[in-house]
Amino acid sequence: MSRRAVIAGNWKMHGTVSETRSLLRGLRARLAARALDLEVVVAPPYTALGAAAEELSGSPIEVAAQNVHWESKGAFTGEISAAMLLEAGCRWAIVGHSERRQLFGETDANVNRRARAALEAGLHPIVCVGETFAERQANRTMDVVRRQARAALLDLGAADIQTLCIAYEPVWAIGTGRTATPDQAEEVHAELRRLVAEVAGTQTAERLRILYGGSVKPDNIDSLMAEPDIDGALVGSASLEVESFARIVEFQL
Ligand code: PGA
Repeated sequence: MSRRAVIAGNWKMHGTVSETRSLLRGLRARLAARALDLEVVVAPPYTALGAAAEELSGSPIEVAAQNVHWESKGAFTGEISAAMLLEAGCRWAIVGHSERRQLFGETDANVNRRARAALEAGLHPIVCVGETFAERQANRTMDVVRRQARAALLDLGAADIQTLCIAYEPVWAIGTGRTATPDQAEEVHAELRRLVAEVAGTQTAERLRILYGGSVKPDNIDSLMAEPDIDGALVGSASLEVESFARIVEFQL
């Protein structure tokens, strides 16, 4: 079965409103000539989401938030609800990024709540999982990613699982320039697809898009995308520059 690829740019804490507008104008112009046969998503900071949606209106490029809270409103200082994101023009929300887990105390249980709230609101979650270097050294990669994915997908039905994407992002590859080799990534993607088959059936597992993230660049995207279970990429620093992100979007098989 062929799955529609997803290339998503995670801008992290980069991009004022004016920087966002200028980057997206450039990206939109650069990709305009091309009929996109994949999904292209950008995730600027919260303050620039509205401007991003405005710049991309009428374009196939969609907007993601970098997180979402599970409640619809209330006394949760610093948090943003799914309805707020939808109103700002988002269609997607990243949840469980390793920086959220490591620096801001995000837990497996919270990641599940965030993913569920996003789905209920009609957003597509991008659920991140990935092992640290110490966990890989200790041969615990599969245990860790299985635990994280199983917890994130808890109580989700087949339709929900087909609406979201899982992003496999080995922590040791994020922002380090040390990409997982295509073989290393494929091994984990295939394992994640087996896990989803166990919890939601083979048809759902076959439809689920599993993205790779961690130092994805123009010079390694083609070999990653050539792997059968790699359905797209979550791109950090290489998504902050028009030409490099465009080249990733235009990956060659
Ligand atoms: P990177 O970040 O591409 O800069 O390694 C990826 C991510 O954290 O999503």
